[in-house]
Amino acid sequence: MAHFVGAIDQGTTSTRFMIFDRAGREIARHQIEHRQILPAAGWVEHDATEIWENTLKTISVALAEAGLTSGDLAAIGITNQRESVVAWDRTTGKPCHNVIVWQDTRTDALVSRLDAAFVRDRTGLPPATYFSATKIQWLLENVDGLRARAEAGDVLFGTIDSWLIWNLTGGQHLTDVTNASRTMLMDLESLQWDQQLLDLFGITRAMLPEIRPSAEIYGHFEGVPIAAAIGDQQAALFGQTCFAPGEAKCTYGTGGFLLMNTGSTPVRSSHGLITTVGYQFGSTVTYALEGSIAVAGAAIQWLRDQLGVLDSAAASETLAAEVEDSAGICFVPAFSGLFAPYWRPDARAAIVGLSRYHTAAHITRAALEAICYQTRDVVEAMAQDSGTTLDCLQVDGGVTGNALCMQLQADILGVPVSRPAVAETTALGAAYAAGLQVGFWHSVDDLRANWHEDRRWQPTWSLERREEGITRWKAAIDRTLGWVG
Ligand code: G3P
Repeated sequence: MAHFVGAIDQGTTSTRFMIFDRAGREIARHQIEHRQILPAAGWVEHDATEIWENTLKTISVALAEAGLTSGDLAAIGITNQRESVVAWDRTTGKPCHNVIVWQDTRTDALVSRLDAAFVRDRTGLPPATYFSATKIQWLLENVDGLRARAEAGDVLFGTIDSWLIWNLTGGQHLTDVTNASRTMLMDLESLQWDQQLLDLFGITRAMLPEIRPSAEIYGHFEGVPIAAAIGDQQAALFGQTCFAPGEAKCTYGTGGFLLMNTGSTPVRSSHGLITTVGYQFGSTVTYALEGSIAVAGAAIQWLRDQLGVLDSAAASETLAAEVEDSAGICFVPAFSGLFAPYWRPDARAAIVGLSRYHTAAHITRAALEAICYQTRDVVEAMAQDSGTTLDCLQVDGGVTGNALCMQLQADILGVPVSRPAVAETTALGAAYAAGLQVGFWHSVDDLRANWHEDRRWQPTWSLERREEGITRWKAAIDRTLGWVG
């Protein structure tokens, strides 16, 4: 009898495999970072082979460290960075190009030609370089011979879930509906590839995977059912047990993503949010509203890797705590333009208000504040779209380990922030979906019973201080727009 469920969490900067028991407790994990390939300004790529090899390694090391074998797993769920595109050869299984990552802005010109109202209506998405469609179009138009090979049926495309399912199951070309809903190629109502959109981007149906529910047996790996696939932000919504309409969570990883469950009907946003599929079990579809922030933890990584002012991401907390505030500066980390609620591809990052007085500590503190102000922007849009205000923000993801950042988040929002005992809710959500599918858990009530609060941050700022900060932030946003660099 298998007592555990595994989850592959293939994220933007790393891949991890986590093992959970029936109480939703973490038994083991292994995580491996992969290279960020930055061939030009605004271009972000990954090596799909490296990602696949890391996936295999994380599974075997996590199992070995826990003293388990694959036979101890009742199921494996997959969760993944969404939108990023892989093209691979059907016969050899080799990638035809590096992964074009969701943050990549090379397709800016292709996006600017799109009919925004049509795309939004059909897909729930505002046209943006963020989504997969123009990345596939770019590959077909720019990789020598790729279109001919793809049209002959020799090349397959997919998001990372498809790439992993293909490799894990020995050749199933499938995707789950949450990932498909991020491609800008799926009709949000029929949950099928949309012929008009396929034609628009020059993509044929045969190049794409079949769209399936988030939980089903996609195939087997070493005898273990691959029983779920779900985009990482939707997985976190599930892992946070946001099963009822109006329940929401914010995950802070490379980017930041606030999702609210909106039940069985897609809610169209008029305030810059995305309408997306939350999850599908059998024929029951749950939709969500999402505020996507392109750069959250990535701002800290940039301070560490590009500027070299931090030895580690964790050091951001100590350095930012050396100063009482950011002394009037604002850091808008619009490295990939601005996503929700602005959707301005022409924005570029800026640190404004600098004087000679400012230090790396102020800049680091401003980076933490930026994560929180961006989140406040999407919380505000969510309230306007849904007509409900959050009385507490449920948070998860790597950045929530930074207590100063979470305190700033409560201060800037003016509502408490609550972190669950398992902050890795993305992996947990994928495990939950897979475990439900194979009967390891019986109902969502079992899962709700597993949710425990670990820590809560209460707001401490006065209304005046909060409003001052928001005004400064909005002024800084204005300065980043329309940059022609
Ligand atoms: O939409 C992009 C998102 O799925 C990436 O998530 O956790 O890798 O920042 P993360």
